Amino acid sequence: MKRIISPSVLSADFGHLADDIAMLDRSEAEWIHIDVMDGVFVPNISFGFPLMPPMRKGTRKVLDTHLMIINPERYVERFAKAGADIITVHLEATEDPRAVIEQIKKTGVKAGMSIKPKTPVSAIVPYLNDLDLVLIMSVEPGFGGQSFIEGSIEKVAELKREIDRCGSQAVIEIDGGITLDNAAEVYAAGCEVLVAGSTVFASPDPEATIHKLLNV
Ligand code: DX5
Ligand code: ZN
Repeated sequence: MKRIISPSVLSADFGHLADDIAMLDRSEAEWIHIDVMDGVFVPNISFGFPLMPPMRKGTRKVLDTHLMIINPERYVERFAKAGADIITVHLEATEDPRAVIEQIKKTGVKAGMSIKPKTPVSAIVPYLNDLDLVLIMSVEPGFGGQSFIEGSIEKVAELKREIDRCGSQAVIEIDGGITLDNAAEVYAAGCEVLVAGSTVFASPDPEATIHKLLNV
């Protein structure tokens, strides 16, 4: 199975964002994770459209955009135009998951859907055949630097079984509390894409940490 690291710029130094994007562009990370928060779906506000064009200008890596916003259908087209390559919305944030998946695909970008720690895998199974990506939240969304919720490994394994059973092409991504100590177990459960915020940016050598996360 493929392994991909998607460092979360939520933990970057916004005073030197261009330098951090340049570092990620040089690194072995194939994706860059962009956490957009609205202060309603989650109890925090991060950043929005104005940061997309400079990031798009600074790298050709995949911009993996995680929308933690209520009714994301209002903003899908704008994020696609601003340079997102993948748009992931939350199952819990929309009344019509199937419609928003179709809307994302129409813009020509890949469609992802995420579930929060308390949402069961069974809730997303009806959409697996339409999705390019499923994001399992392994912390409550809203903040970087939280501890990994252990039950998330079993959720990844269950999701992997469901994806194989229905022949879906969706890749599994995990987000929250990923470290060098739990990465191997997460890959083993069937996860291909690891988001890592504080583990990468709080380390003395982020590029080396990305390399290590790929080679645990
Ligand atoms: C949390 C965000 C995560 C966060 C991960 O709501 O979705 O992407 O940046 O940060 P770490 O890796 O520090 O848990
Ligand atoms: Zn995220």
